[in-house]
Amino acid sequence: MKVKGKNYKSIWLNKKKSAVTVIDQRQLPHQFKLLYLKNIKEIKKAIQNMVVRGAPLIGVTAAYGIYLSMKKNPSDKNLNSSVNFLKDSRPTALNLSWALKYMKKKLLNQKPSNRADESEKLAEEISNKDIQCCKKIAENGLKIILDIKKRKKTNKPINILTHCNAGWLATVDWGTALSPIFLAHRKKIKIHVWVDETRPRNQGSFLTSWELLQEKIPHTIITDNAGGHLMQHRLVDMCITGSDRTTANGDVCNKIGTYLKALSAYDNKIPFYVALPSNTIDLNSKDYLKDVPIEQRSSEELSHIQGVNSKGKSVKIRITPKGSKVSNYSFDVTPAKYITRLITEKGIHKPSKREIRKIFS
Ligand code: MRU
Repeated sequence: MKVKGKNYKSIWLNKKKSAVTVIDQRQLPHQFKLLYLKNIKEIKKAIQNMVVRGAPLIGVTAAYGIYLSMKKNPSDKNLNSSVNFLKDSRPTALNLSWALKYMKKKLLNQKPSNRADESEKLAEEISNKDIQCCKKIAENGLKIILDIKKRKKTNKPINILTHCNAGWLATVDWGTALSPIFLAHRKKIKIHVWVDETRPRNQGSFLTSWELLQEKIPHTIITDNAGGHLMQHRLVDMCITGSDRTTANGDVCNKIGTYLKALSAYDNKIPFYVALPSNTIDLNSKDYLKDVPIEQRSSEELSHIQGVNSKGKSVKIRITPKGSKVSNYSFDVTPAKYITRLITEKGIHKPSKREIRKIFS
């Protein structure tokens, strides 16, 4: 997608620098800065500190981490310890364990002397497949947008509400929830996006708004609590979010607050869609209350906020009283019954056990 008119991916291999190049997402929207990750320790730090984030991108970054490690030492022992080293960097996004399992399985079948080359190929393959998946999701999601446009029977913009950032920054390119929006805009369909702020890290107001601005897509940032009100006033035609982990029954774990949006949408009969690559589906997760690990992040994300001052300097300030206890649950689960459809690279599916099994058959 575009940054100041130039096409970028969120991650790529930089052979000249012997590094993996990423966009430092902590600096956006105020600064566009690239970082060069040179070893597996830097990869882990980048995932944990949210230099890179978003379920698909976390998986791809981990795959490149294995490549950097295999270049140094391709032994079985190092392969196993590298996978273990990265596997708990972030607990909720399934793509991390998916990518690590995939890399390990493929590389164990290779002689150590082949592993550096092979792991590079595999990481590039995972990255390219992610782009292909997102493009397919864009095409499948576009069908839904076109259908809503047809039913709307006016030339007014279609109002789409989204939560968190499930755009190209959360994947390698295109994004999941935002990809149908990007495609619709390129096809000259009038769209307006309601962007949930997404406290505490503000992925909506910092990242989604920035992505939409770059693509010149009309949007408005709203507080996390505004969605229900807008839906009651028929100012939302559809909601679409991404997913960090989807259970075998079609329940969706995504950024905290997604569940409340889905409840409002259900109460107001507004369709609620979730866009995800199929490698975000966890067939082993059956009971969403027990089988989905919910990340709790540092309380500082809630007690402090970062921005730029009037001189453009980055500053972090405390916004809560020092003595108050803070909990920072980062994800929640939206039960399948509140989800209209899941949009994957394979099609548009009912969020049910049966339909999900079909995706993999
Ligand atoms: O904590 P984050 O920023 O990694 O959370 C990201 C989300 O919740 C996204 O909506 C999700 O990963 C889907 S992204 C394609």
